[in-house]
Amino acid sequence: MSHDNHISNRSSNRPFEDIMKASLSRRNLLKRSALLSATGFMGAFVGEGLLAKGAAAATSQVTGGVGGTLLAQTSGLLGFSAVAIADAITATPEETNLAEPVISDDYQYQALIPWGTSIQPGGPEYDGNPNTRPTADQQAEQVGIGHDGIWFFGKDGTSNTEGMLCVNHEFGRNSHVLGKDAPETLNDVRLSQHAHGVTVIAIQNTNGTWDRVASPNSRRIHVNTDVEFSGPAANHPLLQNAANNTPQGTVNNCGNGYTPWGTYITCEENFNGYFGSTQGEAFVPDERQDRYGFDFDGFGYGWEQFDQRFDLSNASYANEQNRFGWIVEIDPEDASQKPVKRTALGRFKHEGFAFAIGAGGRIVGYMGDDQRFDYCYKFVSQASWRSMRARGLSPLDFGKLYVAKFNEDGTGEWLELTINNPALQSEFSDQGEVLIYARVAADILGATPMDRPEWTTVAPDGGIFWALTNNSQRTETGPGSPLAPNNDGHILRMDDGNHTGTTFTWAIPFIAEETHADGDETTFSDPDALWADPDGRLFIGTDGGQQKGLNNQLLVADPATGEIRRLFTGVADDEITGVAVTPDRRTLFTNTQHPGNGDPTITNFPASTDGVTIPRDSTIVITRKNGGIVGS
Ligand code: FEO
Ligand code: CA
Ligand code: CA
Repeated sequence: MSHDNHISNRSSNRPFEDIMKASLSRRNLLKRSALLSATGFMGAFVGEGLLAKGAAAATSQVTGGVGGTLLAQTSGLLGFSAVAIADAITATPEETNLAEPVISDDYQYQALIPWGTSIQPGGPEYDGNPNTRPTADQQAEQVGIGHDGIWFFGKDGTSNTEGMLCVNHEFGRNSHVLGKDAPETLNDVRLSQHAHGVTVIAIQNTNGTWDRVASPNSRRIHVNTDVEFSGPAANHPLLQNAANNTPQGTVNNCGNGYTPWGTYITCEENFNGYFGSTQGEAFVPDERQDRYGFDFDGFGYGWEQFDQRFDLSNASYANEQNRFGWIVEIDPEDASQKPVKRTALGRFKHEGFAFAIGAGGRIVGYMGDDQRFDYCYKFVSQASWRSMRARGLSPLDFGKLYVAKFNEDGTGEWLELTINNPALQSEFSDQGEVLIYARVAADILGATPMDRPEWTTVAPDGGIFWALTNNSQRTETGPGSPLAPNNDGHILRMDDGNHTGTTFTWAIPFIAEETHADGDETTFSDPDALWADPDGRLFIGTDGGQQKGLNNQLLVADPATGEIRRLFTGVADDEITGVAVTPDRRTLFTNTQHPGNGDPTITNFPASTDGVTIPRDSTIVITRKNGGIVGS
């Protein structure tokens, strides 16, 4: 989404001056090299010596990179014909953005569950009619807007043709959802609130076409759905209001995750923007509110004008703001389950959650905090996730939360956010408070400020990839951050041993700026969604201004060789969000978010072009024409 432009991190945890200088000179050295060796390319700004995995693969020429043609290798993982730039842009330079998606010749796509689709067949549908909008009550039974993180739970854990699709609804501008810039009634606010959250919807493939089907498990979870808190902060006074209102809702659901026990994880990102003050500029955020980006005007949703929960000046709801910013667990097979906010995983602008199984069967979650100069985190469960569940405990309620400190030499450390650390005891009174203000605790510990950590994914060889989407305000390079400014982002690989330790190594296999050279067909900017498939392919969804007139894209990369191919481009002014697959990986689900930014003069997707139908965020179902694994 158009992210929060604030820099909330005013801590002094800027990368160390000397480290920055050392990094910069190393980078320049690499840039001066006209021809990087294959391993050198992969190891560009590696810290030390990782990623030699592809060294034995066949070598071929690919264009791109700084200083001209790079040598890269082809492992055969990517067997499809890439969408050429020329086929993904219009011929006329004055209107370079296509209104319709473009997909590889080897693939086909179908739009599914656009905003306004009734979650049950026969319910009220919104079709993009510009003269109307759903009512708030209708929206509560329809697919929301701002499709983002997504996962498919095949029936019985195995079906490739029927199951529950969980989709996040990150955001929808008032102009798009309400058809006006500001709500005028509480009912308008309710419509906006019901358009946010999560959809859990039963879908089925019949003769190659996917559609929603009736199910008692289909449900909408939105800003007014009852939720519960668990973990160390669950009963903390900082999560209670004088109004004594029941915990409700999830908002700005960005990236996602899933667990090995079959639940869906939704991640609350820019929650601060939905709060405002009825006192206007008279409201001045305190230091902790400022660290989370709260301010009197929020992002302009205006909810605070009609819903006291979101009024930062209403003392009866003083802690409502602390109820957002969490990882939320949802059972896709039980519509009666209350979504659970797992406080052990800390409160920050959660982008996503990617798990690994660590030593002793413990579940480890890697999580980005997406803001300029914010941090990378991991959570490690206390014991084997199987044994904890057998004892009736959630593995996400007991464990340790760490934040990453990157060193210039390609190593790093995990710093535990624990009240047992004397450095945190002057600021916090208990572990719950540490978790509620995880950003503040991470500042104190000296975490390394990053270039907007977006999605994380764990590759089959155990490596963890982090999308660092961009940071135009970075003025000096640092460990993990090779460019200043970093306008187009990079992808960092971390190797974290058995996932439960406190040291790691890191490398940077992809720098978006290095794909921009003339003649480079693989150009991309602003990596955001990431998903590593079991063969080692890395799917990359972008969110930002792409080069050469391209719309946002879904690319597939082979990190072992550096090879990248363009699978799909979206529609004008959209963002490509989320990656999910059926168990056999013959079907992939991604999303076009905010197509045309809601403007029907730009695109009418998924309706055909008519200039008036309101474009609607949609899931995009991608299949290979020959029925092969998506990405192959
Ligand atoms: Fe919602 Fe950071 O993307
Ligand atoms: Ca994102
Ligand atoms: Ca983004």
